[in-house]
Amino acid sequence: MNTANIIDGEASVTAVAHAAMARTPDPRLRRLVAAFVDHMHALIREVDLTEAEFETVLKFVTDIGQQTNDVHNEVVLAADVLGISTLVALRNNPQNQGQSAAALLGPFWRAASPLCANGESIARCDMPGTTMEVSGQVRGVDGAPLAGAKVDVWQASPVGLYENQDEQQPSMNLRGYFITGPDGRYSFRTVRPAGYPVPTHGAVGVLLRLQERHCMRPAHVHFMVSHPGCKTLITQVFADDCEHLGSDVSFGVTKPLVGQFVHHAPGGKDKADGGSGYYTLNYDFVLEQGASCFPEAPIK
Ligand code: BEZ
Ligand code: FE
Repeated sequence: MNTANIIDGEASVTAVAHAAMARTPDPRLRRLVAAFVDHMHALIREVDLTEAEFETVLKFVTDIGQQTNDVHNEVVLAADVLGISTLVALRNNPQNQGQSAAALLGPFWRAASPLCANGESIARCDMPGTTMEVSGQVRGVDGAPLAGAKVDVWQASPVGLYENQDEQQPSMNLRGYFITGPDGRYSFRTVRPAGYPVPTHGAVGVLLRLQERHCMRPAHVHFMVSHPGCKTLITQVFADDCEHLGSDVSFGVTKPLVGQFVHHAPGGKDKADGGSGYYTLNYDFVLEQGASCFPEAPIK
């Protein structure tokens, strides 16, 4: 009789579990799961996890899975508000060659947004709000402009909703991608996004309320910048004048990602500014060499 897996007291569980998994052929999977088991078992011992608390944890995990579907991703949201997504993004994207700062992807990126010509607007309907002109240059770490780079952008509306959350907006509103010209430059028009509350209808909302945390993100524009032979940059640029810049619920703000949202008074060069003037944002991106890979989209 093989008795190797027979548990002899709680102290033996960790070693027995490790032994059971030791033959995992993929060395990376073996290491990851072993470390997960170690840390989870240590956490259970450290906090003396009760059975009721364990049930609550399992219910949270079940809920975030069940609340995830084609148009909403509660699992990504949970990773974001726990600081996990930012930690992974920052650890995997050091700025050791002068490359641009990365940030978490978030739950709202959709693949297959429409191709737009430089200078075109990503506002696909008549929208209230203040016009914003965004432009910049994509370069390699050697300083050379990258022609033909793809600059995929997405943002919330002036009322703080992504198009997939809002029946008033057409599909793919405030989303689009641009291809840089020979000088590496991109440009587009939009409306200034508002800061917004992350979705709180699910398990993540319950957690935030229990923690007495606010649910706000500061106003930002998302960018995914890619070029063949370069590591894809996923990032966000935040409004420098935004209320929640210092308390983002998903910990996305780092100093290099605070953009200058410059306000221009009404009546200037843009006569169609609706009396509220307009904003400009200039932001350059520097890509390092590497594999041009894309993440799985959190929503369809
Ligand atoms: C976002 O920026 O789209 C986002 C990030 C984290 C949580 C919710 C939304
Ligand atoms: Fe966002």
